[in-house]
This record gives sequence, C-alpha cells and structure tokens, in this order.
Amino acid sequence: MSEWTKHNLIDLKDLTKEEIELILDTAKSFKEISTRDVKKVPTLRGKTVVMLFFESSTRTRLSFELAAKRLSADTLSVAASSSSMTKGESILDTARNIEAMNVDMIVVRHKSSGVPNILADGLKASVINAGDGCRAHPTQALLDIFTIRERFGKVAGLNVGIVGDILHSRVARSNIWGLKTMGAHITVCGPSTLMPRGIEQLGVKVSHNIDEVIASSDALMLLRLQQERQEDKFLPSTREYAKVFGVNRAKLKNAKKHLLIMHPGPTNRGVELSSDVADGEFSVILSQVTNGVAIRMAILYLLLGTKDKLELEGKI
Ligand code: CP
Repeated sequence: MSEWTKHNLIDLKDLTKEEIELILDTAKSFKEISTRDVKKVPTLRGKTVVMLFFESSTRTRLSFELAAKRLSADTLSVAASSSSMTKGESILDTARNIEAMNVDMIVVRHKSSGVPNILADGLKASVINAGDGCRAHPTQALLDIFTIRERFGKVAGLNVGIVGDILHSRVARSNIWGLKTMGAHITVCGPSTLMPRGIEQLGVKVSHNIDEVIASSDALMLLRLQQERQEDKFLPSTREYAKVFGVNRAKLKNAKKHLLIMHPGPTNRGVELSSDVADGEFSVILSQVTNGVAIRMAILYLLLGTKDKLELEGKI
C-alpha cells in the first residue's frame, strides 16, 4: 500500500493511482463510523479545521464539518461576508491570521481558480481545495470515484459519460483527471458551446449525441448548467438544453441495466434530469452524498497525519 506524503489537497492531477486508492481504501474503513449510534472516534482529537467558504455550499461544507466532528476535531466556519475581508484584508492575510490561532487545516472554496494554491504556498496549515472557480473540485471527484468503485468493485475499464456544461465545470475536470488515472474510459457530452476547445487532449472522447453516450455508459454524471459562471449566452434556452441533453425515462430505454446516474448536486430537476430519473432505480445521487463524508474523513486523517510528521521532522 502507498504511503501518504502530501500536506495539501489541491488537484487530483497531483495524485498517483496508488494515492487515490489509498484515499478510497481509507474512506471505506471510515464509512462504517457514520452508521454507528455514537458516530465519533477520537482519531483527530485536539486538531482544528477551519471552513473558509466564499461560495454557497450545502454538501461540501456540511460533509467536511461532519467528517471533522466524527473524527473529534474542532471546527470553525468563517462566513466571508461578515469577516474582515469586507474591510479590504486580502484572503492570504485573513488565512494567516486564522493560522496564527494555531489551526491545523483550512478548507477553502472560492469562485476564483488558484486561490487554494495561494493559501497552500503561504501557510503551514494544510489546505484542502473545496472547489475553485471552473478549475478543480478534488473531493467531489474522489467521492464520485468511490461511489463507482463501491458499486462495480473496480474503476478500470468502465465507460463513464460526463454530460452537460463541461466548459464551466470543476467537477468535470477533477473527474477526468481522477477517472483517467484510475483507468476509466471517459466520454464528455454536451452542447458544442459548452465544450472546452482541445478537451480531447485530456484523453477523453467528445460526443454531442446523448443517446449514444447513455447506451455505452456504465456511469453517467449529469452536470448542472453553471449559470453563475457563464458570462455570455451559451444556449438558446434552458428549455432547449433540457429537451436535447436532459435525461428522462424515455432517454434511458437503451441504458445498461446496471447504469449509475450520478450528479454532484445541486440538481435542477426538469433541466439536466427529470424527477423520476433523479429518484429512480438508476440514481446513486444520495449515495454520493453519504460517501462524501467518508471521503472527507479519509482526507482529513491522511493530510493531518502528514502534517504531524513534517512538523516533527522540522520541515514546516
Ligand atoms: N457538489 C457540491 O459541491 O455541492 P455543494 O455546492 O452543495 O457543496
């Protein structure tokens, strides 16, 4: 088994197959804790984890908080809108001041790509990227890969379709990096205006035919239209998008019996998928959320273990 040596988690591009497998295996062993009557172990007692979220979040923020609490770490949440950043303090200065209170880890979400790298370069505390701009959302991709592996017992050789607003999706990018590393075959599908130019260079196939992608996929990830990141008009209308790329029961008629319908959330029912598909027998959307807690427990545990080791060796 691979040894964990990383102090920060910024991108899945930075991880080897062995490191991803170590996270998945660690998460598998932690998953059971959340099913106990007393959902708590003392593993990270005395550690402090700070949530620094500059964008709205339900799943990621709450699952990081739960993950930290279930490992007995203390947690703090900083609401950017009521912090001193509204008085002109930079994000790095804010983070340095938080770090000066002897916190061990900062989990950051920001609308600008690269913010987690700036914090990781400027802090001794471990930094986890909880989503930066259109660039990366590594813990989402890890919980997606965990969910696929849990259902199929493997990832290598599976066909994964990623459908929707690929251009603005950090979830798509992180999943492409992670799933490719794990040996999956990926097809991205969506309107040409929402397809990044040159995406084939990441080793994925591009299709604009949703029926073909559904028929060939073992897992299908549906992505929300990221309206908040779209500065131009990329589509004639949301209705038109739903008609062509939205997944409903009729479109699933040629799907494999074991197809997994996945969605990182938040879902827009009636746009990227119909309600009967979101709640139907193919859907693993809520399993993804459950698995998000176990994945984040694993990441907190592995990163904080490395931080302790680096501190003992005088390297940070
Ligand atoms: N998948 C995801 O990042 O959801 P939230 O925005 O609710 O955290």
